[in-house]
Amino acid sequence: MYTPEAQRALYELSKTLLYTPQGVPSDETAAERIENLRSVIRYHEWRYYALNDPVISDFEYDQLYKQLEALERQHPELITPDSPTQRVSSDLVEEINQVAHLTPMLSLDNSYDARDLLDFDTSVKKLAALPPDAIVEYAVEPKFDGGTIALVYENDRLVRAATRGNGLVGDEITANIRTVRSVPLQAPFSQYGIAKAELRGEAIIRKDVFEKINAARQATGESLFANPRNAATGGLRMKDPKEAAARGLEAFVYQLAYAADAQGQSVLERIPTHTEALNTLEQLGFKAPSAQASPSGGLPERRLCRGIEEVIAFCNAWQEQRDAYPYEIDGMVVKVNALDLQERCGYTTHHPRWAVAFKFKARQATTRLRDVEFQVGKTGAVTPVAKLEPVQLAGVTIQNVSLHNEDFIRSKDIRIGDYVLVERAGDVIPYIVKALDHLRNGSERPIKYPRNCPVCQSPLVKPEDEAIWRCENAECEAQVLQRMIFHASKHAMDIEGMGESTITRFYQLGWLRSIADIYRLDYDRIAQLEGFGEKSAANLRKAIEKAKQNPIHRLLHSLSIHHLGQKSSKLLAAQVEHVLDLAAWDIERYQQIKDIGPVLAQNVYNFFHNPRNLEMLRTMEALGVNLRQTPEDQRPASAAEGPLVGKTILFTGTLATLTREQAEARAAAAGATIASGVSKNLNILVVGEKAGSKLRKAQELGTVEIWTEAEFLERI
Ligand code: IVH
Repeated sequence: MYTPEAQRALYELSKTLLYTPQGVPSDETAAERIENLRSVIRYHEWRYYALNDPVISDFEYDQLYKQLEALERQHPELITPDSPTQRVSSDLVEEINQVAHLTPMLSLDNSYDARDLLDFDTSVKKLAALPPDAIVEYAVEPKFDGGTIALVYENDRLVRAATRGNGLVGDEITANIRTVRSVPLQAPFSQYGIAKAELRGEAIIRKDVFEKINAARQATGESLFANPRNAATGGLRMKDPKEAAARGLEAFVYQLAYAADAQGQSVLERIPTHTEALNTLEQLGFKAPSAQASPSGGLPERRLCRGIEEVIAFCNAWQEQRDAYPYEIDGMVVKVNALDLQERCGYTTHHPRWAVAFKFKARQATTRLRDVEFQVGKTGAVTPVAKLEPVQLAGVTIQNVSLHNEDFIRSKDIRIGDYVLVERAGDVIPYIVKALDHLRNGSERPIKYPRNCPVCQSPLVKPEDEAIWRCENAECEAQVLQRMIFHASKHAMDIEGMGESTITRFYQLGWLRSIADIYRLDYDRIAQLEGFGEKSAANLRKAIEKAKQNPIHRLLHSLSIHHLGQKSSKLLAAQVEHVLDLAAWDIERYQQIKDIGPVLAQNVYNFFHNPRNLEMLRTMEALGVNLRQTPEDQRPASAAEGPLVGKTILFTGTLATLTREQAEARAAAAGATIASGVSKNLNILVVGEKAGSKLRKAQELGTVEIWTEAEFLERI
């Protein structure tokens, strides 16, 4: 649609319109200027929404748009329905009409693995009467997970849009589709001799836009959408086009289903392949799956594959990249490229025989909740863990899933014996989406939350503004064990070979009662243990000797002082020559350190005023553990490079996939400074479940960016 010359001319016209005041040159009439503005705005919308590659700044685009709005206000008689300003109608849709599609909208048959695709290929060749060794060309593209749409253009104008409905008749959604800027209101079909066309495609919402919509709904107490698809299909049906516009819908077109000339004769055969049809739609200004490799090194959205082996490789590669893609997709669609071959394959009443959906491995599965165990963490937090009947999810067996806290269980009304829906998205920790309450038979039991520690029986405590119950007995066996596990872990002292199972084993043998015991293990006895031997024992000794030399920020972090993360450990370490100096600090002194708040100050103070802890540290020092500041302890805490350099960040609420410490460590590694509270210096607030006063305060300030956990993970 836009030749390079046309693009250059439109670009130059934009600059002229932007930087010459209206009325100059003086012979330009209002009508001319309006038409000029419309053509350049359409061009820039195409660059921005269809190609994702704007050539002017958002500011410049806004200026052009405002000029057009102002002129149309002065000359309302010149407003036309296909003007870029006329996308969002203020009229409400009173009643949704039913409209018939020009040709039936069929479904797709599914395939799940390479075997299924090979069978599909065999069947295509049989149906098309090709020899078994023929190489068929297939066009492969993402299977977008949104709402199906059909768009009708007559005489180059969008005249109607509809949902799929039952495949023959759908709901009319023209007013809402007009708000979608990747759908052109006019397109030069006539240049191709097409007077009437019907396109098929998918309306979808980008994952990051979806997260923002949900964060905003959470903040205002509205119910959340389960996924981008629901938000998209709901958006298509809004009564108020303004609300549809607010969903930030986009549309990909993936099929030219009908094309006829002015006499009503089909002209589809002039475009002999699917690939050429999509190229044509791109030429006409639509957003189709792109054949270009993405600039970030990702795969192209579509590829013309020679033979089924190439199809299989492309589908598998996409399965790998699926989570990094900005839109939700649930598989790939494989289509015979040549339309004459498609016709030879034919259709069932349900689906074309020339196409198949390759479905990605399911990320959701249902299974039964057998029981709930309550685990005590290193700082005493009691976490309910669902014990599931083992189930396969995206290629891994899932058996244990955290239920987070009491509120989570309550809000989802999960009971023992329930069938539950489990989801695992990408590398995210699996979680329970919901209980399938319609499958209950009455034998299900409510989950009883303990009021005493399941390990040491001391009463559990829950601070007013927290979601988590805690065991406050620092000597609780479970806590002691978890603290040792954390102490040796990668983020803390990083002792290779001292993982959870080894520590638990030594603990059960009675060799480990406190962290200090790690530094006086008897390697001769370890060498005699089954599965160890001289070599492993020697390696373990080496790892422990190495850990003894760690900088003290690692040691401080390894002590499991509640809220003392990697970053605050570094801040503290930079302030002391010897760890035990902290025993002499009063509470104010902690608070003088920037970014150490009153709660953390109190926790560190308490730790260093408990004689048992001081005793343990002295023992460790006597066993050779370094307690003196090292040069590394004097380095700045945040990474000097990374996507969040110069930003202050704060986490609030319960995060779904990361502990607070992990989140803070990742933020610091990305260059961010971890803030201690909401203030005007805060740049970013990441909100988890049950975010409370901090979120409100940040919203009141209005200067803080509010991110979901998913957004945070994506940015880092
Ligand atoms: S082709 C006759 N291509 O998948 C050909 N469909 O079961 C049928 N879908 O709801 C459709 N992405 O909306 C095709 N690239 C794509 C698609 C796609 C998503 C949806 C479609 C329909 C379902 C088919």
